[in-house]
Amino acid sequence: MVSDKTLIKLQHCSTQILQDISLEIHKGEIVTLIGSSGAGKSSLLMLLNRLNDPDTGSIHYRGKDVKEFGITQLRKSIGMVFQSSSLFDGTVEDNLCYGPSLFGEWEKGMGERLLDNVQLPRDYLKRNVEDLSGGEKQRVALARTLANKPDVLLLDEVTSALDLKNVELIEAFLLGLIPERVHAIVMVTHDVAQAKRLGNRTVFMDEGKIVETGNTAELFENPQTEKLQYFLKE
Ligand SMILES: Nc1ncnc2c1ncn2[C@@H]1O[C@H](COP(=O)(O)OP(=O)(O)OP(=O)(O)O)[C@@H](O)[C@H]1O
Ligand SMILES: [Mg+2]
Repeated sequence: MVSDKTLIKLQHCSTQILQDISLEIHKGEIVTLIGSSGAGKSSLLMLLNRLNDPDTGSIHYRGKDVKEFGITQLRKSIGMVFQSSSLFDGTVEDNLCYGPSLFGEWEKGMGERLLDNVQLPRDYLKRNVEDLSGGEKQRVALARTLANKPDVLLLDEVTSALDLKNVELIEAFLLGLIPERVHAIVMVTHDVAQAKRLGNRTVFMDEGKIVETGNTAELFENPQTEKLQYFLKE
């Protein structure tokens, strides 16, 4: 039985990099994913919207095998934002309307509302993305993914390249998305303090495996494994 709370469920997933990953993502939570460089954090995230498939094991989204969804529909529902925004050439509006247009969902006023959400001026709609700063680009990338009205949001180091002001702005914004606009967030970060600030639950990975997982406050307060204790001391 899959409970209503479970949005994504991975069971014993392995790839060349990941080993026997089992994990559930529940409604209403922000799961932060930490671990050293090369631990497999991005690889795990990429399984969740089929940027990669496991060699063995299964992944279910809302009780159904992810392979049973159309890839476009799945990636609309499980949206992803990367570290360096993958905006395409053109205006901010071109980028924002791309996803919704595929589903006939782009409406007048949507672009303005999306920019309001990420605190960018409305006249940015007509600006070329190449003329934006890194922080502005990243906010457009978030707005673009949100334009698809995702159910689950996957974030891979989305604030790593940003200054403190932009980090704070984006963090506040992300916290405000749960639970109404997005039902769960899975966030990879190399910033341990950020994982602690934003997470309800935290997953610690090392060498392709999940080493420890738990309530964020408890996990940081009282790490159980030597590996996590060592990682947090570094
Ligand atoms: N396409 C690929 N082909 C082969 N190996 C890969 C590929 N992508 C990643 N790897 C390897 O898999 C391991 C895990 O990489 P991954 O990018 O998932 O780590 P990460 O935890 O996200 O690290 P970082 O914090 O540096 O982003 C690394 O050893 C990496 O070199
Ligand atoms: Mg990574």
